[in-house]
Amino acid sequence: MSTLRVLYVTPECTPWVKTGGLGDVSAALPPELARLGCEVALLIPAYRAMQALTAGASPVAEVPAHGELPACRVLQTRLKNGVRLLLLDAPALYDREAGPYLDATGRDWPDNALRFGALSHAAAHLCRAGLADGWLPQVLHCHDWPAALAPVYLRYGPPAEVASIVTIHNLAFQGIFPAQTLHALGLPESSFTLDGVEYWGQVSFLKGGLACADAITAVSPNYAREIQDKELGFGLDGLLHARRAVLYGILNGIDIQTWNPADDPLIAAPYDSDRLEAKALNKLALQKRLGLPQDEAVPLLGSVGRITLQKGFDLIAEVAETLVHGGTPVQFALLGSGSLELENRLLALQAAHPRAIGLKIGFDEKLAHLIEAGADMFLMPSRFEPCGLNQMYSQRYGTPPVANATGGLVDTIEDYDGTPESAAQATGCLCREASPEAFLAAVRRALDCYADKKLWRQL
Ligand code: ADP
Ligand code: GLC
Repeated sequence: MSTLRVLYVTPECTPWVKTGGLGDVSAALPPELARLGCEVALLIPAYRAMQALTAGASPVAEVPAHGELPACRVLQTRLKNGVRLLLLDAPALYDREAGPYLDATGRDWPDNALRFGALSHAAAHLCRAGLADGWLPQVLHCHDWPAALAPVYLRYGPPAEVASIVTIHNLAFQGIFPAQTLHALGLPESSFTLDGVEYWGQVSFLKGGLACADAITAVSPNYAREIQDKELGFGLDGLLHARRAVLYGILNGIDIQTWNPADDPLIAAPYDSDRLEAKALNKLALQKRLGLPQDEAVPLLGSVGRITLQKGFDLIAEVAETLVHGGTPVQFALLGSGSLELENRLLALQAAHPRAIGLKIGFDEKLAHLIEAGADMFLMPSRFEPCGLNQMYSQRYGTPPVANATGGLVDTIEDYDGTPESAAQATGCLCREASPEAFLAAVRRALDCYADKKLWRQL
């Protein structure tokens, strides 16, 4: 069988650098591609969090300086699963404390255009020059805006024999910078057009990538359709519609080994569909962990995510308030960080109802697993959701999702509409719009189902 050589370019990879689902996908997809017969090399900046890997890696390429992008080295090591890991070594850009996109105060790194311009430029360079051992990619697979400039460098520089793909994980983040950034990035004036990186007088990484890539994928079929319309197109709907012949929706998968309730070191007690009783031990542990009264019977509603309007955390707050004020016996287990305003709203709710609202602000991988395992249902009233991984994790953990019918949530959740017939195929509850009323109705439907033990078991 002939192998396909794929250069996979990403700003995040679990467990080293993760702000959301892209980190998990970048850890899970390359080894699966390898299983299908691809030779995958994953290119990622050598962030400080990857120092231990960098130490044992050896140089396999030099990327020359370009515009204001510094010269960088590419270091290679192998992951345990055999995937080649290529670390883009440029300490001035990446050797910093704090996140991949934001500094410790939560502001964008001021030189993000250079940091991810360098990543994209290095990817394009490797497509032309290959690695020291002669390895040369046939497919360039770029993830989100930080990698999206690579096909632009290919179009407006020396050509390479490579097919390029840009995968959209979230159209809300586009990498838009002032027009003069063009020169710093070493891109010619000729790229500052409708067919290139120009976007309303500015430089857009994602727009450039979507215009120049040979193919585009979005992380679910439904999202691939939605982004061709104004409502969820974030200004790029026209371009995406024009390129629809090469736009594919491919549903994300999850890593079923890392997310396996029968063998998950991060939860309190292992269980599976044949030993569902043990799930209750996780519920008790979760209640304890968040300072809630330990009670097996009270419905426990969990959520984990970026605390943003995208994820509908305001709707969660609103529904929690209504249920708790109305005296419905219910508890919440919430984890996340994001908008200060929304965080404060949730903190105030917790302070007012400490026996009903369990909340941790921050990033906590272990608690995220425990919430998937210990909660009875998982809330995801996203306003838009390119794919979403948490609803898939929650289904794997026997924790039915209650979600808004948008994006990948539609492709991955079968709705329980309140009839016993629908319970046979259903895997969760969906609401038709991201409003407090619609979401509350879906949560109530799930709570009614929960009260009927047989029906709930079926779900
Ligand atoms: P998105 O990528 O839009 O944030 P996804 O559902 O695709 O949403 O993926 C989110 C991933 O990030 C999940 O693995 C989720 O558990 C994780 N995650 C998000 N916020 C936190 C947090 N505060 N603590 C731990 N894990 C988190
Ligand atoms: C993005 C999206 C999310 C998706 C993830 C992985 O962060 O917001 O819906 O699951 O990428 O593709």
